[in-house]
Amino acid sequence: MTELFKAPKGTYDVIPPFSALWLKVRDALSTPPRNSGYGYIETPIFEDTALFVRGVGESTDVVSKEMYTFEDKGGRSLTLKPEGTAGVLRAMLENRMDRGALPAKVWYTGPHFRYEQPQSGRYRQHTQVGVETIGSSDPALDAEVIWMAHHAQRNILGLKQVRILVNSLGCHECRPGYRQKLVEFLNKCDLDEATRARAEINPLRVLDDKRQVVQDQLKDAPLMPDNLCAACSEHHEKVLGYLDVLGVQYEKAPRLVRGLDYYVRTTFECVHDGLGAQSAIGGGGRYDGLIETLGGPAIGGVGFGLGVDRTCLAVQAEGLKLVDEASAEVFLIPVGQAAITKVVGLAGDIRAAGINADIAYDGRSIKAAMKSADRSGAKFAVIIGEDEMASSTAVVKNLVDGSQESLAVESLVSVLLDRIK
Ligand code: HAM
Repeated sequence: MTELFKAPKGTYDVIPPFSALWLKVRDALSTPPRNSGYGYIETPIFEDTALFVRGVGESTDVVSKEMYTFEDKGGRSLTLKPEGTAGVLRAMLENRMDRGALPAKVWYTGPHFRYEQPQSGRYRQHTQVGVETIGSSDPALDAEVIWMAHHAQRNILGLKQVRILVNSLGCHECRPGYRQKLVEFLNKCDLDEATRARAEINPLRVLDDKRQVVQDQLKDAPLMPDNLCAACSEHHEKVLGYLDVLGVQYEKAPRLVRGLDYYVRTTFECVHDGLGAQSAIGGGGRYDGLIETLGGPAIGGVGFGLGVDRTCLAVQAEGLKLVDEASAEVFLIPVGQAAITKVVGLAGDIRAAGINADIAYDGRSIKAAMKSADRSGAKFAVIIGEDEMASSTAVVKNLVDGSQESLAVESLVSVLLDRIK
């Protein structure tokens, strides 16, 4: 026998009934942007490799270790997008959105690809809902972006164990001085070789090290929020003030450093306490300077990326019931060959009226067909046999209370609409 193929390592299939939750989560995460003046954008799944090297940063794990890079038949180096920001900003600049009304605000959703070591909540293909904005340095926009994540997770989905961590990473003015201070501090610590190497490339990442042995040594490390310049400090205070006005419960996280190089000032992460190691269900921040790096004007920007896969895991971890698992509201059962054509036509009418209907196919016995009807979660079974054909009626069985009645076929759609909608 030929062996079955398997999904590539680190990927999984989104199949029913789970897919109903997946769609619901994706829809919930994109509701606040759709209600807040963000237009939908869709960009290619692959981009010029150099875009990510320049945009995300050569020293990041995402770029140096995790990219799916290949050469096409024309000899171009292309990369499956590991994250959304660089490609979306490229598209906004290429399409001159920076020359129109500012800020320009877009949202997107789609798969992203990272060659990571797979584990629960960490995949080689994952889906994000993201937003990007360009052309504003207003701290109220940072707060809007954080609020949207918070609102979708807490209020629309109803997650309770989610915390929003907020930090400021300073700017190109104040960060170099802070970085120097941190390097001097780290030089005095007793760090293993790998950590020391990491400290040399990006000392701020060491602060984010989850290992207790490392954290013990970092107790007195200088922290960015204590070393902000006046402008960054004012920006940060304003963001926090707006978050208070918006009712966002956030935690200050002075050691929060994200894995992408483009952040300045506001950075945030949404963590879920029921997920174990891969607890970040979303994150984002401000990236003033990035637009210039990509060849655009010196304007600011801020955005987020929320993980659909991990948010589904969070919903499941909290045992929230967000979707009705029924695949149909009405299940039609033809009894005998002659009734099939009638049932096929009726199913069309019922579905066209907006009722979710399914049919027992393949001339199944009434017993087997009733089993399928039960399994579908339908509230009503509509049964048509020889007698019903002769009298232009249908037997409608209420699958919840077991009652049944005979109805004229002409009135069937309106009666079902009345009972269901
Ligand atoms: P990120 O934190 O790398 O940010 O990814 C955003 C979210 O995507 C994460 O919080 C997580 O929920 C999910 N995610 C990332 N990698 C994986 C994975 N391997 N498996 C499952 N889920 C994953 C960004 O990508 C930025 N572009 C976000 C952003 C937009 N910042 C500003 N604008």
